[in-house]
Amino acid sequence: MAKPEDSDSILQLYLQFNEDRVKSGVGDAHYKTLDGELPWKRTLSDGDCLSLIAKEKGGRIFGFITLRVPQFNPFNKVGKLAEVDLIVVDQRLRRKHIGTVLYEAAVSRMKDIGVTHILLNVKIGNVPAMVFWTKLGFKKVSKTDYKRADGVEEQTMYMLKKI
Ligand SMILES: CC(C)(COP(=O)(O)OP(=O)(O)OC[C@H]1O[C@@H](n2cnc3c(N)ncnc32)[C@H](O)[C@@H]1OP(=O)(O)O)[C@@H](O)C(=O)NCCC(=O)NCCS
Repeated sequence: MAKPEDSDSILQLYLQFNEDRVKSGVGDAHYKTLDGELPWKRTLSDGDCLSLIAKEKGGRIFGFITLRVPQFNPFNKVGKLAEVDLIVVDQRLRRKHIGTVLYEAAVSRMKDIGVTHILLNVKIGNVPAMVFWTKLGFKKVSKTDYKRADGVEEQTMYMLKKI
């Protein structure tokens, strides 16, 4: 389980994620600007969120996943929902099933608290993430197109899975 003191290491992974976003043409996430503080610092102490980390014996964090159980659940007639806020694996260690292990560990904790469905969104253009989530059994449910306040046009795919 991630602790608030892990936030600097998580920030390094977050910066890699942002670099990936920019490279794939889906734009800078700008969370830092929006939050006015380090991305994810708040989620690490947020009672609605679960953050798990993958850590080396030496202490280096090489992956994390954050899920949120939202107060408002648009699917409350079908079950209890959790949303993936973000998952990032260190660029040097991808395709070694670390992301899969992090996701499965988080799902196991979610089942323990009665969660039945996982929702997430992926920016269209983030091909590795789209393949990753599809392989884990997520289905596309809807697509949105919007223009952010900073002018960046974002296309987002929402994906859902019953766990
Ligand atoms: C998405 C991400 C977390 C996947 O982590 P990972 O540890 O590399 O994923 P895994 O090794 O568990 O991959 C599981 C399967 O997903 C698919 N997959 C993952 N990365 C892929 C890629 N780059 N290209 C094609 N398929 C990919 C493969 O089918 C893979 O299985 P295989 O290697 O046996 O063929 C990682 O690429 C990442 O950190 N990306 C940047 C952050 C990001 O975009 N997060 C998602 C936001 S929605």
